[in-house]
Amino acid sequence: MEVIAHRGNTFYAPENTMAAFLSAASYNISGIELDVQWTKDGVPVVFHDEKVDRTTNGSGWIRSFTYRELRQLDAGSWFAGRFGGEKIPSLQEVLEWMKGEDITLHMEVKKPPRQFEELLDMTLGMIENHGMAHKTVVSTFYHPLLTYMAGQKRTHFQRAFLTKTPLFRGIRYLNSIQAHAIHIRHSYQAMRFYPLWAKSGIPVRAYTINREKEALRCKRLNVTSIITDDPKTMTSLFPQPEQSHGENKI
Ligand code: G3P
Ligand code: CA
Repeated sequence: MEVIAHRGNTFYAPENTMAAFLSAASYNISGIELDVQWTKDGVPVVFHDEKVDRTTNGSGWIRSFTYRELRQLDAGSWFAGRFGGEKIPSLQEVLEWMKGEDITLHMEVKKPPRQFEELLDMTLGMIENHGMAHKTVVSTFYHPLLTYMAGQKRTHFQRAFLTKTPLFRGIRYLNSIQAHAIHIRHSYQAMRFYPLWAKSGIPVRAYTINREKEALRCKRLNVTSIITDDPKTMTSLFPQPEQSHGENKI
């Protein structure tokens, strides 16, 4: 079972920062999950919340900041003093680093603007230019975005639909929106569906799995990957095929 680091090494470093990604990559993970949104001036940045308040020293909607303004914010001190000065990364910055790593990028597109097409095309183009398309899975709760991608014939990207609850006709739905994989919030209800979906050969990735007991359950039910805040523990539980990662252990 694959281990995907949720927003990086979230238990030990400020989420969705380079520090969290480098730290996660020091373990033998298969992938990194991160969240992408666009700034006021259309730059794709890696950030989870709609507002910057919780994880930076700033305040306000992320979409109301230009990229330059966002870069003034401290995205590390809220977590621990030693991460002071950590920046909100641009997607470009992450790609520059990740292209040299043997890690799959699980890019969650957060709530897009109504006219998302141009921004999405530019962002996917950026990933293609970094030679990362074949190792990128685009996931989102906004499923029309996936159907749009399918129509654009961007076949080298994997597409995953995100859901908080299981769907009775999950596979039929997946086919109807032309997705390849299901990313689902782990729950008692969801667990009943994992074996059926796995039997159909569809990648099933469950989030957010931080407890050993839940991880072992997922493994038993043939879940493809777990998305976890604790890649350190989970990679020790489920050793991954050897990969070449750097030295940034926290
Ligand atoms: O990709 C799964 C998970 O990241 C979705 O929820 O809120 O952590 O972005 P959230
Ligand atoms: Ca996410």
